[in-house]
Amino acid sequence: MSAGLVVSNLSAGYGDVSVLADVSLSAEVGLITAVIGSNGAGKTTLLRSLSGLLKPRQGSIRIGEAELSGAKALDFVNAGIAHVPEGRRLFAGMTVEDNLLMGAFARAAAPAELRQDIDRIYAMFPKLAERRRQDAVSMSGGEQQMCAIGRGLMSRPRVLMIDELSLGLSPVAVDFLVEALKTISGDGVGIVVVEQDVAVALDLAQHVVVMDRGRVSKAGSSSEIAEDRAIRAAYLGVD
Ligand SMILES: Nc1ncnc2c1ncn2[C@@H]1O[C@H](COP(=O)(O)OP(=O)(O)O)[C@@H](O)[C@H]1O
Ligand SMILES: [Mg+2]
Repeated sequence: MSAGLVVSNLSAGYGDVSVLADVSLSAEVGLITAVIGSNGAGKTTLLRSLSGLLKPRQGSIRIGEAELSGAKALDFVNAGIAHVPEGRRLFAGMTVEDNLLMGAFARAAAPAELRQDIDRIYAMFPKLAERRRQDAVSMSGGEQQMCAIGRGLMSRPRVLMIDELSLGLSPVAVDFLVEALKTISGDGVGIVVVEQDVAVALDLAQHVVVMDRGRVSKAGSSSEIAEDRAIRAAYLGVD
């Protein structure tokens, strides 16, 4: 059995509105999975369901042996799922370091262990080390994304999910984040990234899931998706 995240036949929505229908996908530990699809396709709703913020109507969400569908958000964190939300949602009025520490809220970790984890994040993102005493939301978008990813890593996740990695960030910041995520994945963390820039998604991920109106319309290796004519026409503007 996979130690990663396995989602089967998931349906979810808001009130009377159905958004996700019959979504199945898996995210292996140590691999990067990109979720692409147009605005309103249900990508954010999917990540909210996979982090326990939205209760699914149907289907299964498993990580390792644990069934999480219907569980609380805290259970998802404890099971090894970390969620970096769209817009990053850092805590304003708190320093970079305190934001990172917030990511460890569910862990019963000794201070020395937390220090080690924070130092590892500073080694990966030296900009955060320079700004550790600064209000987190005073930083650039790219630096805030580093902080949000670092906060996610502080829960020591098996699977890290990021909603809109590159949105609004400079190309230089995006390149840096892409390399960092490849390193994090190489360390054995599964990564699910929602990414509106398909070229970035194809560079970053080994596996790509395409969503359309709440369903998975296509899934495959990034080279398969990169060669798909319909995808090229719709998302890359080439035919
Ligand atoms: N809180 C909400 N209440 C009702 N409908 C919502 C809510 N959030 C999103 N939706 C609807 O769900 C659909 C999918 O939205 P979303 O998951 O945000 O898509 P994406 O992230 O792919 O742009 C859209 O039609 C959107 O209007
Ligand atoms: Mg979204």
